[in-house]
Amino acid sequence: MKRLVVIGGGRMGSALVGGIFRSGWAEPSALAIVEKVAETRQELADRFPGVEVADTVPAGIAAVLAVKPVDVADACHKVAGAGFQRVLSVVAGVPIATLEELIGDGTAVVRAMSNTPALVGLGASVIAGGTTANEDDLAWAEAVLSSTGVVARLPERLLDAVTGLSGSGPAYIFLVVEALIDAGVQVGLTREVAAMLVVQTTLGSARMLVETGESAATLRHAVTSPGGTTAAGLAVLEERGIRAALAAAVVAAVERSQALGAAGQPT
Ligand SMILES: NC(=O)c1ccc[n+]([C@@H]2O[C@H](COP(=O)([O-])OP(=O)(O)OC[C@H]3O[C@@H](n4cnc5c(N)ncnc54)[C@H](OP(=O)(O)O)[C@@H]3O)[C@@H](O)[C@H]2O)c1
Repeated sequence: MKRLVVIGGGRMGSALVGGIFRSGWAEPSALAIVEKVAETRQELADRFPGVEVADTVPAGIAAVLAVKPVDVADACHKVAGAGFQRVLSVVAGVPIATLEELIGDGTAVVRAMSNTPALVGLGASVIAGGTTANEDDLAWAEAVLSSTGVVARLPERLLDAVTGLSGSGPAYIFLVVEALIDAGVQVGLTREVAAMLVVQTTLGSARMLVETGESAATLRHAVTSPGGTTAAGLAVLEERGIRAALAAAVVAAVERSQALGAAGQPT
């Protein structure tokens, strides 16, 4: 009987298993990955020694669904009736009601919305419990997902907001990074040097926020001397409406997520 069976050994499934491996949450022998592609199964077996890699679902206490949205019905059918106490779905855009209907009674369902930095252990995830999920089920889901980053709990109705903010968030940051690198080239730096400076500035700024616990506004004020260079740059960003543009981007992404959900399509 496996402690955790991960259905889908793609990017997200293997990131989860890798995180659990590192965190020591479970022994390799307590884990299984179900993957339908033979070549991927071989890669997973090489990467995670001791973890069972199979093409059919073994008996287990709990399962994680980490397949593409289009494959979720098939994965739920494989899980239904296998006697799992709990199922955590990281499949974007598939509502709890759909998962519960496909999986059937007797299994607590928890839905998560994660983001791509989960692939490097720095994900930001939110979990929402299904109709029969209790405190233990949520704590379990939190423990599993925390191997890929930070986790918060929210009601399901806020998952569209999460999708538009942190789900799409990496793309907003990548766009800012891209634009800053181009700006570096414009002012005379080579692309290579500009990229190194901008990427490290982004990483360092994020780490300062985490490590100092100060607000973004406080840290920004600390680097903005009166009449100085940063103040001149910030004034242009404010004048051109950077705050309004970011807010409108998030609202548009949330609305798109709501529309896709209403149309029954994954986000
Ligand atoms: N990647 C991310 O950063 C990220 C972030 C947040 C959420 N998610 C969510 O996580 C889910 C997985 O994403 P991903 O990027 O990991 O996708 P992926 O790399 O395509 O991985 C999915 C894997 O599961 C396999 N699979 C599909 N149906 C299966 C079944 N019934 N039984 C066993 N294996 C099955 C797929 O095989 P085939 O290739 O043959 O289909 C594929 O290898 C998605 O729903 C996505 O919305 C991903």
